[in-house]
Amino acid sequence: MKILITGAAGQLGCALQSVLAEQDILAYDRNELDITQFAQVREAVTALRPDVVINAAAHTNVDAAETDQHAAYQLNAVAPRNLAIATSEHGIPLVQVSTDYVFDGLGAKPYHEFDATNPLSVYGKSKLAGEQAVAALNPRHYIARTAWLYHTAPAGGKNFPKTMLAQVLEHNRAEVRVVSDQYGSPTYAPHLAQAIAQLITTGAYGTYHLAGSGGTSWFSLTQKLYELSGLKTRVLPVATSEYPRPAVRPRFSVLTTIQEPQIVLPPWEDGLAEFIAALK
Ligand SMILES: NC(=O)c1ccc[n+]([C@@H]2O[C@H](COP(=O)([O-])OP(=O)(O)OC[C@H]3O[C@@H](n4cnc5c(N)ncnc54)[C@H](OP(=O)(O)O)[C@@H]3O)[C@@H](O)[C@H]2O)c1
Repeated sequence: MKILITGAAGQLGCALQSVLAEQDILAYDRNELDITQFAQVREAVTALRPDVVINAAAHTNVDAAETDQHAAYQLNAVAPRNLAIATSEHGIPLVQVSTDYVFDGLGAKPYHEFDATNPLSVYGKSKLAGEQAVAALNPRHYIARTAWLYHTAPAGGKNFPKTMLAQVLEHNRAEVRVVSDQYGSPTYAPHLAQAIAQLITTGAYGTYHLAGSGGTSWFSLTQKLYELSGLKTRVLPVATSEYPRPAVRPRFSVLTTIQEPQIVLPPWEDGLAEFIAALK
């Protein structure tokens, strides 16, 4: 299968390149294909004629999006729309990756694919706009919502587990304070990439929740991370109210799936164990 990956230098982009290595991969980073530019996108899709396009690019800085709404909407809404138009012109399926932040997190049970969306942040609103554009403009769409994504790659890339390890290994912190009242589904990027690799063989278009199975808080995730890494650092719980951030996060955005065919990712703890093994 000839697969075009956009945003190929990010966490998911790197994972997709490894998982799909036996396919005919066309991996483009932003310097090779800027997906906010419609003419570039149309020209690339028309010239390359891939069998499927996977959009791994996004504006993922949730707090920065609050003050730079234009940049967030350009990349999270306009760009997927560009891809949807260009791919639909040739009947090419498009995978658009989205987020648990499309939900408000005010409930207490895991969200499935048909639950009502109500994003609280600019990031969540822009990602939902991207979902809607893709669904409206290319009937051959897979919308894959994921959450709390992390990977060892790219080198120098940032994510929550890497940050929490650095607190101990680089900054020698004996204790850390971590938010304990936000719950979600930590997802190891290679597990998401494997699920997407499976999804694109189905032809079953629609919206899917592809996130690490089970749910946890940032606090419990950190405890597990240190336990699996053999670190004795104390983890102290703090409330979201004690740690104000520019963007409002959903309090409870654990994802589950009821979609058919069922594609279920490994438990989040397994992802964390594989991440630590890969770092070593
Ligand atoms: N990270 C999370 O916790 C999380 C949670 C839920 C959902 N998601 C979703 O999962 C997907 C993958 O996220 P990720 O963490 O892998 O993202 P990431 O590591 O931030 O990678 C995004 C990539 O997009 C590239 N990009 C930026 N502007 C571009 C442009 N105009 N054209 C083409 N590429 C461009 C970036 O390049 P530069 O680095 O050069 O800017 C970067 O390589 C996204 O759809 C995201 O919304 C992520």
